[in-house]
Amino acid sequence: MNELLKISNLSVEYHRNGRKLRAVAGVDLTLAPGEILGLVGESGCGKSSLGKAIVGIEKPAEGEIRFNGNLVKPLDRRGRPTELRNLQMIFQDPYGSINPRRKIGDQIADGLIVAGKPKNEALKISAELLEKVGLGASALDRYAHQFSGGQRQRIAIARALAASPTAIVADEPISALDTSSQAQVSNLLVSLVQEFGMGVIFISHDLSVVRKISDRIAVMYLGKIVEIGTTEQIWNQPSHPYTRALISAIPKADGNSNMPLDLPGDVPNPAFPPAGCRFHPRCPLVQVGCESSVPEIRTLKDGRGVACVLQTSNEIVVPLETIKGR
Ligand SMILES: Nc1ncnc2c1ncn2[C@@H]1O[C@H](COP(=O)(O)OP(=O)(O)OP(=O)(O)O)[C@@H](O)[C@H]1O
Ligand code: SF4
Ligand SMILES: [Mg+2]
Repeated sequence: MNELLKISNLSVEYHRNGRKLRAVAGVDLTLAPGEILGLVGESGCGKSSLGKAIVGIEKPAEGEIRFNGNLVKPLDRRGRPTELRNLQMIFQDPYGSINPRRKIGDQIADGLIVAGKPKNEALKISAELLEKVGLGASALDRYAHQFSGGQRQRIAIARALAASPTAIVADEPISALDTSSQAQVSNLLVSLVQEFGMGVIFISHDLSVVRKISDRIAVMYLGKIVEIGTTEQIWNQPSHPYTRALISAIPKADGNSNMPLDLPGDVPNPAFPPAGCRFHPRCPLVQVGCESSVPEIRTLKDGRGVACVLQTSNEIVVPLETIKGR
């Protein structure tokens, strides 16, 4: 595969109250040009930590990220090195991520000026970018408070585009928006991917949103990727018990009701992850040994990766009858 991003054995740790919290625990991922990779999982599973590490905002405890073959080093005061300028992040909060005291045009122009463009040219390009994301050039001289949440997220996208990104990590870019703005902003992202051939890692806790725009989906649980495959595979034939439970929880009109599974309990505290398979205390299909041995991610015949002892081939080893009534 022609890889834009290659993430190998990536871990992110925080230290809280003298205790180590491993928010991301050994993740491998790739992203190709023109691909949208959805990253889903419940709140606190480490999606944002992974996203921030990918763009150099968080320092990995282990592992590495390569962007176009270049090692992504944690950002320092000098900002983003030239070879990483085309790797950008869009944050969840369209209110917090835009400076309320500076004109929108100046904020978008910043990235262009850093890249060596004279200010007047940078402002001209900023106006074009604002047009591209569906806001007029009149937005240049306005301030953040004059825009709605959906419009601010378009501004954040325009600002990211100013760096001519070839890869974008979009962390819950639509979850703070109302339903119609959600559709508009996700359609905008898809059209930009089609126009510019960027790769996008699209982070969301909502599988039904992710499946509408993603080519592939990675499912994360307590710091680990438990299943990764094409959107078709994940949505229509989820394999890992956690993926199946997530899909079962989606209302029938939207979700796939094959092989429904319950998802009991809450996500455990990542400072005290369960031994063995981290999902075992909640897994409706838990087996003897799941509490002690860690399932490695394995590639099945259909190409997807799954980290579960039950998946030895494309067939689900546990007969469906045994699931009934659980
Ligand atoms: N700066 C930090 N310091 C200490 N702990 C942190 C920090 N950032 C995140 N964490 C913890 O790391 C874990 C993963 O957090 P993260 O924000 O990556 O999850 P998430 O999947 O993005 O969640 P959400 O869907 O709520 O945004 C959580 O337990 C969180 O409390
Ligand atoms: S390894 Fe065991 S506990 Fe983990 S998901 Fe598979 S069956 Fe469930
Ligand atoms: Mg998050």
